[in-house]
Amino acid sequence: MPHDAAALDTLLAPFSDPQAVARYAEGPPRFVPGFSDLHRMAAVLLAERAPGDARVLVLGAGGGLELKAFAEAQPGWTFDGVDPAAEMLRQAERTLGPLAPRARLLQGYIDDAPEGPYDAATCLLTLHFLGREERLRTAVEIRRRLKPGAPFVAAHSSFPQTPDQRERWLSRYAAFAVASGADPDKAESARAAVEAHLNLLSPEEDEAILREAGFSGVSPFYAAFTWRGWAAYA
Ligand SMILES: C[S@@+](CC[C@H](N)C(=O)[O-])C[C@H]1O[C@@H](n2cnc3c(N)ncnc32)[C@H](O)[C@@H]1O
Repeated sequence: MPHDAAALDTLLAPFSDPQAVARYAEGPPRFVPGFSDLHRMAAVLLAERAPGDARVLVLGAGGGLELKAFAEAQPGWTFDGVDPAAEMLRQAERTLGPLAPRARLLQGYIDDAPEGPYDAATCLLTLHFLGREERLRTAVEIRRRLKPGAPFVAAHSSFPQTPDQRERWLSRYAAFAVASGADPDKAESARAAVEAHLNLLSPEEDEAILREAGFSGVSPFYAAFTWRGWAAYA
């Protein structure tokens, strides 16, 4: 959990800043190793169980990067993209361009998402902003909106949290960004913000949350420095 609500606001502020949002697409590929492959893998995992005309719930859809990747991968899928940041949703619309009519964009949190039932759901680079209880509640609410057996793909920051491991992996997080062309000062301030404001969990804790939320077949498919991804089934 963020140490307090103000701390979380600090961390989420860039998602409401038009200038920062306009540059959003530069960030994830520098901070998340294999970012475009993560989208490709997520689409493959969803498509194993979702039909060609699937209706897909995308929570934390701001920026529209995964919406665009999924829409291009699966021409028959349509999307409900939910995100609390209006500016990030406007950016999603711009990112989608001619694909925008296939995505309904809704400002809000999981409780503002339609009831579905959906054929598939994702939540990428988002659940680490939520404290454990809210993360669990959100996972429960995602599952409740899925058809029985439907796939869910989650990927977010999750790595060992013993003090020495935490320090080591956060350094690697920043070093990867610098190696990928990020400004070293920005990489360091990102590292410091993550360290100060996020309630990061270990992969074991995140997996337990998915199981506790009622998902079955929880299986890790992605591990890249401080990032992990799982497929799970409602
Ligand atoms: C790092 S961005 C990730 C956006 C997109 N999923 C991607 O991978 O590029 C995190 C997004 O989560 C959104 N967000 C923050 N708290 C959220 C919550 N409780 N539920 C849904 N989205 C949330 C933010 O507004 C922001 O757009």
